[in-house]
Amino acid sequence: MTGNRTLTIIKPDAFESGKAGQILALLEQEGFRILAARVLHLSRAQAEEFYAVHRERPFYGSLVQFMTSGRCMPLVLERDAAVATLRRVIGATDPAEAAEGTVRRLHAESKERNAIHASDSDENAEREARFFFAEADIG
Ligand code: CMP
Repeated sequence: MTGNRTLTIIKPDAFESGKAGQILALLEQEGFRILAARVLHLSRAQAEEFYAVHRERPFYGSLVQFMTSGRCMPLVLERDAAVATLRRVIGATDPAEAAEGTVRRLHAESKERNAIHASDSDENAEREARFFFAEADIG
């Protein structure tokens, strides 16, 4: 992983309602290259571990339930300024506050069922990519 890579997840709300293709097209239009991709149904233990940083939040249990409610699609993406650019492209956590044309404005249902995840720092991008992918998967 370098500073030009980030980790995203198309979440179960968007993946199971058939939005993956539209979201991937938007990400590619924004200049992201897909380096690695998987489709998987997170176990409860995996979702709890991935979101462990939110363990004390009131929405943690509901978030884990949502993230295990269906398949999701983690991807490693590459472009310059990947972390900051992807966060701009996906929009605010709450789709009601997300800018026009962002993934969440277009596809999210609510603050929790918000279609997509993006790493918030280079350090977390590295950690989150390693959660889903082996070094050899990323290349
Ligand atoms: P994500 O960017 O994956 O990081 C943590 C997730 O928790 C977030 O997207 C939402 O899915 C969820 N989340 C954050 N804040 C809230 C909230 N106030 N209520 C419910 N879910 C939330």
